[in-house]
Order: sequence, then structure tokens, then C-alpha cells
Amino acid sequence: MANDILDMLREDHKKVLDLIDSLQEGGEGTVKSRQNNFSRLKKELLQHMHAEETVFYTWLLDNADDREIVLEAMEEHAAVKMALPGIEHTDVSDEHWEPKLKVMGEMVRHHIEEEEDQIFEQAEQLMEEEINDNLVKDFKQAKRATEITV
Ligand SMILES: [Fe+2]
Ligand SMILES: [Fe+2]
Repeated sequence: MANDILDMLREDHKKVLDLIDSLQEGGEGTVKSRQNNFSRLKKELLQHMHAEETVFYTWLLDNADDREIVLEAMEEHAAVKMALPGIEHTDVSDEHWEPKLKVMGEMVRHHIEEEEDQIFEQAEQLMEEEINDNLVKDFKQAKRATEITV
């Protein structure tokens, strides 16, 4: 288990991207496994975004010089959240399901790339050991809190 907030976020990102990849490759996958993987993806995304917004972005908004990229990232989260029900309410065998997943996957991929590149760079400059430890603690707690509601 990572004890560095940025490593924890990277681990989550990898999990989410792996799930998107397997859903996209899974053309031959059964309907059931697609549904299961999508539920896992949705849960991972919602937990991650919630914890990231309430803990990591909140800290950055209070401390970073460039707040604009953080505000933009929040809007990207909102766009992903809006796309999720459209996929969820489409049957996995419907021809619209794959394009819907693909477009959302592209949004997530783009978001993660910019986040790890620009936002993490800012965070690294501001990070001190004590701040990191508090963020790790709060992030874990925020994820656990979402688990109940997802
Ligand atoms: Fe993230
Ligand atoms: Fe994010």
C-alpha cells in the first residue's frame, strides 16, 4: 500500500484504465462479465473522484498558484459523472453501448494524463511530508465514506 498521496492516486488511475481496457477488449466477453466490470469501473471512478475532489483538489485550490487547471479537472470529473448513467442505462448488447463507453474512456484517459502531468507537478512542488501524511489519511477516509453510498 502506497504511503504517498500521488502514488495512491496513480494506483487508482491504473486500476480504472485497466478496467476500461478490459471492457473495450471484451467484445467476446459475456454480458454478465461486462456488466460486472462496468459496475466495478463505476464504483472505482466515483470513489476516486469523490475522494480526489474533497481532499486533493480542495488542498490544491487553497494552495496552488494555478487554480485554473484544478477547476478544469473538476469540470472533467463532472462530465465523466454525467456520462456514466447513459452507459448504465444502455443494454450491453446495444450497438450504442461500445461507442458510449469509448467516448467516456477517452475523457477519462485525457483527464488522467493531464492530471498526472500538470496537476501532480504542482502538487509535488507544494508537498511536504506532513501535508502528504494528512492527505493520505483524509483520502483513505473519503474513499471509505463513499463506499457506503456507491
Ligand atoms: Fe485522479
Ligand atoms: Fe481526477
